[in-house]
Amino acid sequence: MKVYFIGAGPGAPDLITLRGARLLASCRLILYAGSLVPEAVLEHAHPDAERVNTAGLNLDEQVALYRRASEQGLDVARVHSGDPAIYGATAEQMRALRELGIDYEVVPGVSSFTACAAVLGAELTRPNVTQTVILTRASGRASPVPERENLRGLAEHGASLCVFLGGNQLPEIVADLLDTYGPDMPVALVQRASQPQERRHVSTLGRLLSEIRVSEWTLTTMLIVSPALSEPEALETTSRLYDPSYAHRFRRAVKEGGEA
Ligand SMILES: C[S@@+](CC[C@H](N)C(=O)[O-])C[C@H]1O[C@@H](n2cnc3c(N)ncnc32)[C@H](O)[C@@H]1O
Repeated sequence: MKVYFIGAGPGAPDLITLRGARLLASCRLILYAGSLVPEAVLEHAHPDAERVNTAGLNLDEQVALYRRASEQGLDVARVHSGDPAIYGATAEQMRALRELGIDYEVVPGVSSFTACAAVLGAELTRPNVTQTVILTRASGRASPVPERENLRGLAEHGASLCVFLGGNQLPEIVADLLDTYGPDMPVALVQRASQPQERRHVSTLGRLLSEIRVSEWTLTTMLIVSPALSEPEALETTSRLYDPSYAHRFRRAVKEGGEA
């Protein structure tokens, strides 16, 4: 018997990994966070599997389900949105499983921040612009962000910044970032990336709040702030990776006149 923490991806049923879908089809007990994992992803599940939405369950109640599955010898698929390693509250479940002597394994998933970048058709790392992506979140009652990771400090890097779980605090987040990134910094809000309700709003830090109704962008929304979101024409930097004159271990450089 084993518990599989499976990354469901951002919501589209075909953005789960092949391994995740295969395991979903083989497990007879499925726990999923219904507030974030759309039912559509469970189309991969075994038709006879018991499905439990964990949205209303506390940790003890979830652990009781793991214990029951262990006694019955049933494998469990614990389905988390995106990738389980990011804001998944998986660590406390894993600790409980270790205490119970139950084996577990993690199956990675497509995180929502890469799904949102895909919606925008954007590369978040551009040579000489930014080569760093910071993943952070708005501080929450259940999961406070340490003071040393405050947004104003993170903004000083000028890197691509992906803010998870920020919906309810958008005005405060923008205010914290504005001084350092400046009003012209490109930003994007992406809601429900890859799902039928997907939508986006592309703007600048200075204009964003005057262009949207904040209350419509609370749930399942990512804020991306990044100099790499500038119009491609505005960024004259290009990676040398595919430059014909650039040689590396797997490719010879083309000399002037076309010779390799
Ligand atoms: C509890 S966190 C889970 C993150 C998840 N583990 C991941 O890797 O994407 C939930 C937050 O992730 C972001 N999120 C999850 N799915 C999303 C989607 N399809 N589109 C936009 N943001 C999403 C939102 O910021 C949401 O508030």
